[in-house]
Amino acid sequence: MINKIRILFFSPTGTGRRIALAIAAEFKQTDVVELSDISYPDCRLNSQPVIPEDEWLILILPVYAQRLPQLAVSYLWTFRGQQTPASVICHYGHVRSGIALGQATFLLRQQGFRVISGAVLPVDHAYNNEQVQILARPDITALISQLQDHLRQVRQLLQTCGDGSIDFHGGPRFNPACLIPQKWLACGTITLPAVRQTRCRQCQACRLACPTGAISNKLEIRADQCIRCLACVRACPQGARSLHFRQPVARWYLRYYGHQAHEPLFRIGKPSS
Ligand SMILES: Cc1cc2nc3c(=O)[nH]c(=O)nc-3n(C[C@H](O)[C@H](O)[C@H](O)COP(=O)(O)O)c2cc1C
Ligand code: SF4
Ligand code: SF4
Repeated sequence: MINKIRILFFSPTGTGRRIALAIAAEFKQTDVVELSDISYPDCRLNSQPVIPEDEWLILILPVYAQRLPQLAVSYLWTFRGQQTPASVICHYGHVRSGIALGQATFLLRQQGFRVISGAVLPVDHAYNNEQVQILARPDITALISQLQDHLRQVRQLLQTCGDGSIDFHGGPRFNPACLIPQKWLACGTITLPAVRQTRCRQCQACRLACPTGAISNKLEIRADQCIRCLACVRACPQGARSLHFRQPVARWYLRYYGHQAHEPLFRIGKPSS
C-alpha cells in the first residue's frame, strides 16, 4: 500500500525539475505527492534519514561524465529505505548515459530500497546553447509523455503486488571513462564561466542558481567548488556568463555522439514470485 509518492531530484539546469513537475502533475489527483529538490546547498542540509516502506521514491538525476553527479551520490548515502520501492530516472545530454542507471540501482539497494523500475532519457545537453549548437535537441514533451505512461504502469504494478516482490536487476557496468574523476573531466572540458562585467547588472541570479555555493557575493567563482554544471550561465538574464570549451576535441566529441540517434530506455521489474 503506497501512501505517498516522494519525487527527489537534483537539477542545476532545470531538465530534471521539469520532469519532476510533470510526474507530480500526473499523480497528484490520486496520490499524496511530495517534491524534494536537492539542487542547492541549503536543501541538501536537510537529509531524510529513513523513507518508510509505504512511500514510493522516484529519483530523478542527470548523468555527469557517464555516471551520477558526485554531489547527489554523497547526499543519497545519507538516507535509508525500509525495503521502500524506488524508481530511478536518469537523463543525459544525448551523448552517453554510461553507468548512471546501474550505479543508482546499486546505491539504492545498498541503502535498503527495492528498485522496481528504471528509465534513461536522452535530453538536451547543459552545454548546448545558441552559440555552440553542438547537439540534436530531443523532443522533451514527447519523452515526458512516454515516461508518464511508464510510471503509470509501475504504479499499477505496485498496486497489484501489494507488499511487493518486484525486483529490477541492474548494477554498474564497467566503463573506462569512469576511471577519470568527474571533476577532472568537467574542468578539462570547459573553463570557469567568468563574468563579462560590461553586461552584468549585479542581480545575483547566477549566485543563487549555483548548486555548490561556488559564487561569492562579489560574483567571483571559487574554482575548487565549481563542477561546470552551467546553471549560472543558464540563469543569467544578461548573457554575461558564457561557456568556453578548452579543446576543440571536447566540442567534437559532444557534437559527434550528440548527433547520433538515441532512444529512451524503460525497464520495469517483474514480480519475482
Ligand atoms: C558536468 C556535466 C557532465 C555531463 N556529462 C554528460 C555525459 O557524460 N553524457 C551525457 O550524455 N550528458 C552529460 N551531461 C549533460 C546532462 O546530463 C544533461 O544536460 C542533463 O539533462 C542536465 O540535467 P539538469 O538540466 O536537470 O541539471 C553533462 C552535463 C554536465 C553539466
Ligand atoms: S559556478 Fe560552477 S558550479 Fe556554480 S553554477 Fe556556475 S558552473 Fe555550476
Ligand atoms: S546573473 Fe548575470 S547579470 Fe546577474 S549577477 Fe550574475 S552575471 Fe551578473
